[in-house]
Amino acid sequence: MSADRDAERRHDRKEDHVRLATMQWEPAQGDGPAARGNEFDDLDFVHHAMDAVALEPVDPATRMFNRDAAWPFYINGMTGGTAHTGRINQQLAIAARETGLAMGCGSVSIALDDPDAAPGFRIIRRENPDGLVMANIGVGRSADDARRAVDLLGADALQVHINAVQETVMPEGSPRFGDWLSGIEAIVAASPVPVLVKEVGFGLSPRTLHRLADVGVRFADVSGRGGTDFLRIENDRRPGGDYGYLTGFGQSAPACLLDAASLDADSRPTLFASGGVRNPLDVLKALALGAEAVGVAGAFLSTVVEVGAEGLIELIGSWQRHTRELMALLGAPDLEGLRGTDLLIRGRLGEYARLRGID
Ligand code: FNR
Repeated sequence: MSADRDAERRHDRKEDHVRLATMQWEPAQGDGPAARGNEFDDLDFVHHAMDAVALEPVDPATRMFNRDAAWPFYINGMTGGTAHTGRINQQLAIAARETGLAMGCGSVSIALDDPDAAPGFRIIRRENPDGLVMANIGVGRSADDARRAVDLLGADALQVHINAVQETVMPEGSPRFGDWLSGIEAIVAASPVPVLVKEVGFGLSPRTLHRLADVGVRFADVSGRGGTDFLRIENDRRPGGDYGYLTGFGQSAPACLLDAASLDADSRPTLFASGGVRNPLDVLKALALGAEAVGVAGAFLSTVVEVGAEGLIELIGSWQRHTRELMALLGAPDLEGLRGTDLLIRGRLGEYARLRGID
């Protein structure tokens, strides 16, 4: 394939991802994550009417990469590399700056291969010089690429995504799954900033977390199913659409977090969670199950595409208010308090917990 044709296909893919992901989060579609429900709905906080605490001292601050972070949720890695997706990154960066959230970006690989794609990532640092920013590359890229990705953004951390399911179904996918672990080990050793390994919506099992920890990974985002569905996105991009039967493959974020509790805290990375987070209650449930911070992709992307940076700033502001209010309601002055709350697990998630021997 010629270099031009290659660049054009990468460009089209970025645009397809944003378009198809946004459709999944559009309530009018009727079957997207906002309407369909997911395994966060299988979790209920038991309401203790006398437990509520005063709002004023409630502090939802957390630690991200051993740094203080004022808010326990962040804008997860999504896009960049074309003029349109660069503008989306700009708006996301403005929203992150105005609300004090950390943010990621989509895979920077496109800009490592084609310098014309770089401005749509650099804009993030330009708009948000002081915020916590994460670069992003795919597993399988070299340690040198990892360093270049971090440099390009002046990033504070590096997300490395594992996407075997996506690569399997993606029309132009390259399922070369062989050497991922040694590749990750090399990236961790070479990266000038902390590395966070993440899925893209299919979950990380305890075995995976354990293997990652073994090669030095200290941070992992389980990114489970139940939100943006890359199986469906890639299947919709295939002329024949012949992988639809795989729908539902993988584990949800709540399932991954419950599972991860079986591992010694010392033998697993610090856990972040994402995948299907639709509102502040989902954020609190993930935190209560042990996540240190919670990533939000599709819900924020659909907002920024529909109503721009101002609309996203408003939405994030309301999530921030609600997060503190709900913590007060649950009697949790901080995240540690949240981990002591009573959570009921039922439905499909309860069945998963039972089959996996989780109490
Ligand atoms: C993503 N995601 C993603 N993740 C990653 O590590 N690198 C990437 O390049 C992308 N690209 C991307 C594009 C678009 C349009 C979306 C919506 C998402 C995955 C994202 O970070 C997250 O793991 C999943 O989307 C699940 O979270 P939500 O969307 O259910 O909140």
